[in-house]
Amino acid sequence: MKRILLIVGGGIAAYKACELVRLCRKAGIGVTCVLTEGGQHFVTPMTLAALSENQVYTTLWDLKDEAEMGHIQLSRQADLVVVAPATADLLARMAGGIASDLATTLLLATDKPVLAAPAMNVRMWSHAATRRNVAQLRADGVTVLEPDEGPMACGEYGPGRLPEPEAILAAIQQALSPVEQRLVGKHVLVAAGPTHEPIDPVRYIANRSSGKQGFAIAGALAALGARVTLVAGPVTLPTPAGVTRIDVETAREMAATVDAALPADAAIMVAAVADWRVEPAAQKLKKGDAAPLLHLAQNPDILAGVAQGLRRPRLVVGFAAETERVIEHAVAKRTRKNADWIVANDVSGDVMGGEANAVHLVTAQGVESWERASKVDVARRLAERIADAL
Ligand code: C5P
Repeated sequence: MKRILLIVGGGIAAYKACELVRLCRKAGIGVTCVLTEGGQHFVTPMTLAALSENQVYTTLWDLKDEAEMGHIQLSRQADLVVVAPATADLLARMAGGIASDLATTLLLATDKPVLAAPAMNVRMWSHAATRRNVAQLRADGVTVLEPDEGPMACGEYGPGRLPEPEAILAAIQQALSPVEQRLVGKHVLVAAGPTHEPIDPVRYIANRSSGKQGFAIAGALAALGARVTLVAGPVTLPTPAGVTRIDVETAREMAATVDAALPADAAIMVAAVADWRVEPAAQKLKKGDAAPLLHLAQNPDILAGVAQGLRRPRLVVGFAAETERVIEHAVAKRTRKNADWIVANDVSGDVMGGEANAVHLVTAQGVESWERASKVDVARRLAERIADAL
């Protein structure tokens, strides 16, 4: 089992470290936590001990801890040292080589790779001193993730939020078992999620697509080194690490955004695009006034447009969500739309919105039925196949 040493710094984002520990354990990664003095103001050693199923270390000056496991050994028994949240103060002390508490002593004594996920106020993040410290740490070989942008606990807005625990986990997995960067220099376009077609200012036509499979594919392609443009319909999912995301709402917006993102080496059209739209009413419709719904117009077929267009990517992959005769429909769809592959799945069960998927890969050579697996594993397998094809 791979193991990380997780240093939890003193910031409000420390509560997200608890979720990170849970996700790591779920992914089969062993976790030993070190909680700084500041960190203890936000989460307790008890919380981290329960989630990590492991002893939590808080101080250099504990005779019993030191006798059982010297701090030098503690800094080296893990495969990776992770600092999350990495506060401005921790980054500064790391950059300066200061060993003034257990966390910074371990960081100075370790011979293992170090990954830091910063979290701080936007001005602290953009301050010249922090810029300098981050540049120094990167030059020293520390992987410093980019913080997320958004509203902050302190009421300000901007870059400085701790990356979502899922994104930190992806970075940890990448650091623990680096996958061969087979798609460096390739641009891959992924469309994911549902589309919303407005009926009036408050109503829309939608479907049950969660975007999870498409987002996992975008993340898996980025992990192989591809430059990934993810055109996302309305979903509530964190952006996978290393992916450029463009949010859209309607099928026509998605079509225009996909077109603007070309050329690409491959296009993976996972989105559940609404087939129909209506002319939206300017005002909220009244009960019984269903007139617009009687005038459904066909949306553009984005996949067919890409696959039959002048700037056709070398590899075009479509998806087929079916509730009956799955393979038969997928085989017909591949030819009709001029796609190279169709990934077909039966969505009559719990696939839409769920965590697992059982897919059939339909290519010119035939049909491969993959065993049911998590959407993340399906994504990894598909990304490897895409790398084989490019
Ligand atoms: O024809 P059907 O909707 O079943 O085909 C599914 C595939 O076509 C998916 O890859 C989906 O992203 C794509 N599609 C599209 N534009 C549409 C409808 C479907 O790109 N308007």
